[in-house]
Amino acid sequence: MSLKNTRTRWGWPAKVFHWVMALLIIGLALVGTYMANFLSDMFLQIELTQIHKSFGFVAFTLAVLRVLWRWANPVTPALPEGQSAWERGAAHLTHYGLYALMFVMPLSGWLMASASPLNDANAYPVQIKNMVFGLFELPDPIAPSDKELEALFHTIHAYSSYLLAALLLLHIGGALKHHFVDRDSVLRRMLPWGRVD
Ligand code: HEM
Ligand code: HEM
Repeated sequence: MSLKNTRTRWGWPAKVFHWVMALLIIGLALVGTYMANFLSDMFLQIELTQIHKSFGFVAFTLAVLRVLWRWANPVTPALPEGQSAWERGAAHLTHYGLYALMFVMPLSGWLMASASPLNDANAYPVQIKNMVFGLFELPDPIAPSDKELEALFHTIHAYSSYLLAALLLLHIGGALKHHFVDRDSVLRRMLPWGRVD
């Protein structure tokens, strides 16, 4: 497997970024929805939220590295001949949207958690700091207990996750259409050991 992308293949770093981040982001969205809406045990909720913040930080770091790698390697596999203009447009728009959400999701989560009263040493008996795997604390751009900003970033975080789900349906649907209907190599060329004709 080559390091760099070509006009027919993805290099191995692009594939590793894609699949590690796909697992991470889908996992964060599912666990996030569960812990925020379907969990009645408060202690478990706090525990899961801390894990969510930690993996969210990892997702953000990987997003920065991925975009840097993509800028350094502007060549990407071409879409197959015979795709209509709207199909090309839809694929590119979906990819741009997914790249944007890789930043909007963790940044809105971080700002929401920073503004939260739970992060206020004076408001609750125990302050719940925004730690990454208990190793270090995330910086606080917003003074805690700013309920308006907390609500604003919560709205952005939650609505962005609906947009993420919609774009992923289009994205995965598109990949499956390429494979099963058009029978081209678009899905195979992103798979770890996918054969490309
Ligand atoms: C089961 C889930 C998924 C499948 C089957 C899938 C499939 C694919 C395929 C086949 C490509 C390559 C398209 C091409 O070669 O022209 C691709 C690219 C891409 N995927 Fe996914 N994907 C999945 C999940 C995700 C997730 C969760 C994200 C991010 C939130 C994501 C973001 C992207 C982006 C941004 C690209 C474009 C890469 C670039 O042009 O730099 N994918 N995906
Ligand atoms: C790609 C990264 C991320 C994804 C996909 C994601 C996804 C989600 C989703 C879907 C929810 C449920 C929202 C709701 O229904 O109210 C959620 C909740 C939450 N997220 Fe994230 N998140 C990410 C990163 C982060 C980060 C980096 C932080 C903080 C540092 C964070 C903090 C939170 C908090 C505190 C909640 C709970 C909100 C509540 O209790 O209503 N998230 N996340």
